[in-house]
Amino acid sequence: MAASLAAKLSIRRSPLHRYLINRCISQPATAERRKEAVVVAPEMPPFDYVPPPYNGPSGDEIMAKRKEYLSPSVFHFYKTPLHVVEGKMQYLYDDKGRRYVDAFGGIATVGCGHCHPDVVAAIVEQTKKLQHSTVLYLNSVITDFAETLASKLPGDLKVVFFTNSGTEANELAMMIARLYTGCHDIISLRNGYHGNGAGTMAATAQSIWKFNIVQSGVHHAMNPDPYRGVFGSDGEKYARDVQDIINFGTSGNVAGFISEAIQGVGGIVELAPGYLSHAYNIVKNAGGLCIADEVQAGFARTGSHFWGFENQGVVPDIVTMAKSIGNGIPLGAVVTTPEIAQVLTRRNYFNTFGGNPVCTAAGLAVMRVIEKEKLQQNAFEVGNYLKERLNGLKDKYELIGDVRGRGMLLGVELVTDRKLKTPAKAEIVHVMDQLKELGVLVGKGGYYGNVFRILPPLCFTKEDADFLADAMDYSLSRM
Ligand SMILES: Cc1ncc(COP(=O)(O)O)c(C=O)c1O
Repeated sequence: MAASLAAKLSIRRSPLHRYLINRCISQPATAERRKEAVVVAPEMPPFDYVPPPYNGPSGDEIMAKRKEYLSPSVFHFYKTPLHVVEGKMQYLYDDKGRRYVDAFGGIATVGCGHCHPDVVAAIVEQTKKLQHSTVLYLNSVITDFAETLASKLPGDLKVVFFTNSGTEANELAMMIARLYTGCHDIISLRNGYHGNGAGTMAATAQSIWKFNIVQSGVHHAMNPDPYRGVFGSDGEKYARDVQDIINFGTSGNVAGFISEAIQGVGGIVELAPGYLSHAYNIVKNAGGLCIADEVQAGFARTGSHFWGFENQGVVPDIVTMAKSIGNGIPLGAVVTTPEIAQVLTRRNYFNTFGGNPVCTAAGLAVMRVIEKEKLQQNAFEVGNYLKERLNGLKDKYELIGDVRGRGMLLGVELVTDRKLKTPAKAEIVHVMDQLKELGVLVGKGGYYGNVFRILPPLCFTKEDADFLADAMDYSLSRM
């Protein structure tokens, strides 16, 4: 039976998949393994929606056009790329009407749920009234949204500048820090991701995301990574490297420090406890400003707090945000204090689409939905539950080296050797494909590409969490 299964599977699989499947099947199954194998494929929770038939171009046709007309840098997940045509809350539908549990949320962007009716209504209403004006004229949407955002931030973080993306927000934040301090040097964390503009690519610290172009003025500090880092969970010890960089790599003064509280692209690495408070003190003593990049962790995703930095008990000087801020509409923002914000008055500074009424209407609707539907609480409860389930899988499967993160910002790192922490690069691709076959979409990241990134819309339910964990169990039991 095993041989016929292998034969059946190998018809449709790549050489890598055939290798993995054959390797798994030819492994002598111990009694323990047999007992633990999950026999029945899990069933997706019910959902009361049937999409209309899709009559558009096929996936193959789209792929052919992509190859011809889109940049060759555009890449896709899965051996057979997924062709999505509709989204409803935490679910996506493909061209055949098949439903998927979306645990990647457009890369932590669809916070309220796909096509959330309140956000769609706000976008449609505003589009009918006024689609674009620039900030050269008065309009209440941008100010109402700025006021609402400011109300969610601590201290004197009250002044908002809108952008169109996370990269733009971080570029601006870094420039503000440089202008305010009169210094050029910025410190970021190894393994961090902050965007792909000229300045932000310098702050991004993973070679796979850096081109060989001039990137000046950023020093990369030791990453306070509790799983792979040399000091384990001792945040204070890692922070000493920030002082060393200042002492030995700069004039003694710096413009600032930028970091995520939980590294998203880097594989859901939650900074060691206490790290940010020590690092912030060191940076402030060197005259620098502290920038919190909340592009992935913000907007209630961590569940315990609205912002990721709050989990470390710090108050930054500048906060940058994007992704979930607009539930999928292009929008980003930089929030800082009135005093720091003054530096931008030294010259003209302008962004044509920044603060666009349609985008800010969407942002305002997002804030109201998070509040009305208690999405932060849901992220906390369901996120904790899912993390527990994933930790249960870690106890069961050697392949899982680490389960980490908070709320609905979770990571599962696959390793072929737990002691050596050898990245399970091929295995993750195989399991990810299997999950898709079962109807579960997750992301992947980390420097070695061996970490599942689980970042669903915050309306994700306990039933969805069970389905995801069961599907992972089912897939892993077949490795
Ligand atoms: C933490 C973080 N900062 C900045 C960015 C860049 O945002 P964008 O892709 O909107 O430019 C990203 C994108 O993934 C991110 O994860």
